[in-house]
Amino acid sequence: MNFLDIKARSKDEAKFRTVKDMLGKGLISKVLDEYDLKGEVQNNRKLFDRVVIDITNGLYCFSLAMNGQIKRARVLDLGCGSNGENAEAELYPGEYYPWFARALHALDIKVVGIDVGSLQGERFEHYEKDLLTPGSLDFLGTGYFDVVYSSRLFSSPELEKRCSGIVRPGDADKNARERLRFVLLPQIERVLKKRGYFITSNPEWTLDFEVSDLID
Ligand SMILES: C[S@@+](CC[C@H](N)C(=O)[O-])C[C@H]1O[C@@H](n2cnc3c(N)ncnc32)[C@H](O)[C@@H]1O
Repeated sequence: MNFLDIKARSKDEAKFRTVKDMLGKGLISKVLDEYDLKGEVQNNRKLFDRVVIDITNGLYCFSLAMNGQIKRARVLDLGCGSNGENAEAELYPGEYYPWFARALHALDIKVVGIDVGSLQGERFEHYEKDLLTPGSLDFLGTGYFDVVYSSRLFSSPELEKRCSGIVRPGDADKNARERLRFVLLPQIERVLKKRGYFITSNPEWTLDFEVSDLID
């Protein structure tokens, strides 16, 4: 298994162009249209920026890992975000919908999204599961995915709530992260192809370019 440490990545011009191209073809509008969210999101600058950053950052890392060959890739998005109740929805209403999985689906890329929160009505293949439960990925085939992606799962307030019973803004504490890592890492290794990538990302820490560089 390869890890993609987003913080260490460099600005790769070819991959950068691949993402710019996808965005140029109206990807963000397509995603918002599919979910009938265009008005709501575009009238909320903060939310719009969040959506664009999440999708852009995810695609960039994904493209880097796949060396630009993204069309036939299979992606598993863990803690993909939810459209229902969870600690995130309580603390940050509307910010943690499954934007990256929605974008991949809009690009006709095979994506499976898993979250403990509701995913009802999502158009990509999805499962509502608690990833702290041992064997939660047993239903997935061995060596099936090219990429396992998890954005902000390990720092999730919902994760903290499930481990300590406390809902608090900011990062889940070290114990919660360690507990999840212990249960999840061997399973991630099993479902990934031998040369597959585990990408963990956190857009606030990791953007090494301006989103405005990508949007005309
Ligand atoms: C901060 S949100 C990130 C959502 C999305 N990946 C993103 O980057 O915007 C973390 C997500 O992880 C989910 N999550 C937290 N603990 C989980 C667990 N034990 N099992 C499954 N999902 C979990 C939450 O429900 C939430 O949707």
